[in-house]
Amino acid sequence: MASSSRVYTLFFFFCVFAISSSIVASTSSAAADDKEHVLTLDHSNFSETISKHKFIVVEFYAPWCGHCKSLAPEYEKAASVLSSHDPPVSLAKVDANAEENKGLAEQFGIQGFPTIKILKNGGEVVQDYKGPREADGIVEYLKKQVGPASFEIATPEDASKLIDEKKVFVVGIFPTLSGEEYTNFTILADKLRSDYEFGHTTNAKLLPRGESTVTAPTVRLLKPFDELFVDFQKFDVETLEKFIEDSSIPLVTLFDQSPANQPFLVKYFESPNAKAMLFLDFGHEKIDSYKAQYTDVAGVYKGDGLNFLLGDLKASQAALQYFGLTEDQSPVLVVQSNTGLKFINSNVEVDQLAPWLKDYVDGKLKPFIKSEPIPETNDEPVKVVVANSLKDMVLESKKNILLEIYAPWCGHCKKLAPILEEVAVSFENDASVMIAKFDGSNNDIPSDTFEVQGYPTLYFRSSSGKVVPYEGNRTKEDIIEFIQKNREDETLTSTTAATSTEPGKDEL
Ligand SMILES: *[C@@H]1O[C@H](CO)[C@@H](O)[C@H](O)[C@H]1NC(C)=O
Ligand SMILES: *[C@@H]1O[C@H](CO)[C@@H](O)[C@H](O)[C@H]1NC(C)=O
Ligand SMILES: *[C@@H]1O[C@H](CO)[C@@H](O)[C@H](O)[C@H]1NC(C)=O
Repeated sequence: MASSSRVYTLFFFFCVFAISSSIVASTSSAAADDKEHVLTLDHSNFSETISKHKFIVVEFYAPWCGHCKSLAPEYEKAASVLSSHDPPVSLAKVDANAEENKGLAEQFGIQGFPTIKILKNGGEVVQDYKGPREADGIVEYLKKQVGPASFEIATPEDASKLIDEKKVFVVGIFPTLSGEEYTNFTILADKLRSDYEFGHTTNAKLLPRGESTVTAPTVRLLKPFDELFVDFQKFDVETLEKFIEDSSIPLVTLFDQSPANQPFLVKYFESPNAKAMLFLDFGHEKIDSYKAQYTDVAGVYKGDGLNFLLGDLKASQAALQYFGLTEDQSPVLVVQSNTGLKFINSNVEVDQLAPWLKDYVDGKLKPFIKSEPIPETNDEPVKVVVANSLKDMVLESKKNILLEIYAPWCGHCKKLAPILEEVAVSFENDASVMIAKFDGSNNDIPSDTFEVQGYPTLYFRSSSGKVVPYEGNRTKEDIIEFIQKNREDETLTSTTAATSTEPGKDEL
């Protein structure tokens, strides 16, 4: 479970980055100034510095992270521009990879690099930075963050200037700009300002949609999809927040190359719900029928914890690769359950969408397991295991097996390969020991048996089925010693099995 969600997150970042990278790539030049404007913080001076700032932005980075390197000159340029802003906006960075700063990384729940946080009122309020990653965009975004969270709409000009028809816009309509409802609206606007744009008015006539005479305090959410606006009249902060979150997820999220859809994609992939995804060429001759039918089905199952996405093949390459799919399978309908199981319907016809999703909801479908083909020859010292041969070669094997879960692109795996080969050669005449490798990037691995947090991951499975991770040094001597210590003989196994059933062990 832990591993599948982790891998899923990677996929999510991949998609989001695929979209934002086109923006990032368009600027480059670094600040030529010699004074550094970004503050460098570490565990020794972090709290003290933060406590002195009403508004400070902190980037948690790692020296090896490529996205951090491309961000650095842009971040510095933004810091330089913002250094003269009123009120002041400070930018800082922390090397969250350094051992002494790991406590800070933990305190802020840093999961990936770079992660940028906005700290207000001396660190009392912590918010995620969700803006662009190039200098002008960063400046623009932070200026907005430091100003008021909600702007008054008093004239038609205000309305057309503030309301972007392509985005979700939340507007509070009040008889007077005071009172508890208004205060609660303002509190929430500040909390959610990174995600949505907010405005307030005493005159509903100025708004582009909805009833123009409003007598009681009302929140109107304008959106570029589905019913285009929704009104709401409850003002306790939590209920109002839930209303805004729920109403701003489209019935069907579009995954195409338009940056305007990015915030909706982020919400889609962040949601803990099960995910239905239909990938096809948006130039398909029946695209309109697919869209209409899919939207209907989404309406039916929306309440069942299933969120819907419609992806254009061109934008969805990373997703296809993640699911082990090829373009000739499109139109392809995929469901990822909230426990990480995958269900796939290739070359799906318009009229199969509804019945197949009904079968999913009714629990009638078999999950799909991604696997490379079982190799025809497998006579190298290190044996090749794929998802479809895992059961026969490993899980039901009577051998003592050292299994390396690797990825073809992983550098540490390449370094380990010749060592494993030597280990395998040294056991070549020992029929009860096998050294094997499993490409975890092209095969699904059962996450209840093998937890994979990174590559390479090494596991040892004894002939009686005990599974233990190998965490020792990656040298020939240490690996051989470990295998000798943990291996079990056939005869010994059968006696142990007959006399004791050690509870609490990883038996299969
Ligand atoms: C915090 O401490 C580090 C290491 O001593 C130093 O390099 C950095 O300049 C300090 N930052 C501030 C803002 O004092
Ligand atoms: C304002 O929000 C608070 C906290 O959620 C709530 O207790 C209060 O009832 C709200 N006021 C109104 C008028 O809804
Ligand atoms: C791995 O090697 C290092 C130094 O070579 C040694 O200090 C350490 O104890 C070794 N670890 C194990 C688990 O053998």
